[in-house]
Amino acid sequence: MKLKTKNLLTLAELTPKEFLGLIDDSIKLKKELKKGKNKPVLKNKTLAMIFQKPSTRTRVSFETGMFQLGGHAINLSSNDMQLSRGESVEDTAKTLSRYSDCIMARVYSHDLIEKLSEHSSIPVINGLSDSFHPCQILADFMTIKEKKKKLKGLKIAWIGDGNNVCNSMIYGAALSGMEMSIATPKEFEPDKNVVKESKQSTKIELTSDPFTATKNADIVVTDTYSSIHNSDPKRIRKFLPKYQVNSKLMKISNKDAIFMHCLPAKREQEVTSSVIDGPQSVVWDEAENRLHTQKALLVALIRA
Ligand code: CP
Ligand code: NVA
Repeated sequence: MKLKTKNLLTLAELTPKEFLGLIDDSIKLKKELKKGKNKPVLKNKTLAMIFQKPSTRTRVSFETGMFQLGGHAINLSSNDMQLSRGESVEDTAKTLSRYSDCIMARVYSHDLIEKLSEHSSIPVINGLSDSFHPCQILADFMTIKEKKKKLKGLKIAWIGDGNNVCNSMIYGAALSGMEMSIATPKEFEPDKNVVKESKQSTKIELTSDPFTATKNADIVVTDTYSSIHNSDPKRIRKFLPKYQVNSKLMKISNKDAIFMHCLPAKREQEVTSSVIDGPQSVVWDEAENRLHTQKALLVALIRA
C-alpha cells in the first residue's frame, strides 16, 4: 500500500483507503509467513528503536518483523543514549537519519515524537506516546477483520480510561466506518479534539454508563486504568467496580461479541480472568497481529 505520509504518529495521517489497505497487506504477509517465510523486501534496511518506557510486545514484534523481512533493528534505551545527558532531540533525529532507514520511538510526551519526526529525514513511527498508540490499533482492526470478516457497521464499546489507546481507536473507528461508544468516568474522557474530528465521519458516543456503551456491541475493549505515563495507584479507586469488564457486562453485548485488550492487563481490575481467559477473548491474536501489521507498515514507509 502506497502511503502519502512520511510518518505514522497518530493514524490521522492515513486515508480510509490507506488504513484498510495496510490491514489487507498485513493479512497477506501473515499468510505468506504461515506458509514458510516472507520475502526479504527490507534487506539491508535498519530500524532504530528508541524506548523511553518499558515494552514487551512493541519491542519484540518490531525487532522480529524487521528480521523476518531481511532487515535489522537496533534497540536503544533512551537511558543509554546521549539524550539522557542532554543531547537534543533535533540532533538525535539528524544523527539517526544518517545510519538507519526508519525510527520507531516509544515516548512519554507526544510533542517529543513530533519533534523527532520534524528533524528526521527518514520515517518515524509512534510506538506509543502519552496521547496515541497507532500501531496497536492497526493490529486491533486486523484482528476484528479476521474475526468478523468486515469492519464497516460494527460497534465498539470502550470501557474504562479514555487513554492513548482509546484515542487511536477512535481514529480507527472513523477510518473504517465503525461506531464507538466510550464509557468512562467524566474526568477520564478521551481527547476532545480527536472525538470532535472523528464525529464528522462516524458515530462516537461518550457516556458514563458501561451498560449503555456495551449494548449491541460487537467488540468490547478495555485497557489498564494506570498507564505508564499515568501510574498513580489512587486512580484505580475512580474506576472500580463500575468500569470493569466482567461476565455480567459481556452478557449485554452481542452474543458473538469479542473481547479485546492491548495488554499488559491487570486481571480483576479492568477485566476479570473469566473474560480475558474466556472464549470471547481474542487478546493473543491481537498481540500476534502487532507483528504482521507493523511489517506492512514498515514496508509501506521504508519502500515509499
Ligand atoms: N500493547 C503494547 O504496546 O504492549 P507493550 O507495552 O508490551 O509493548
Ligand atoms: N495505556 C497503556 C498501554 C500500554 C501498551 C500505557 O500507555 O501504558
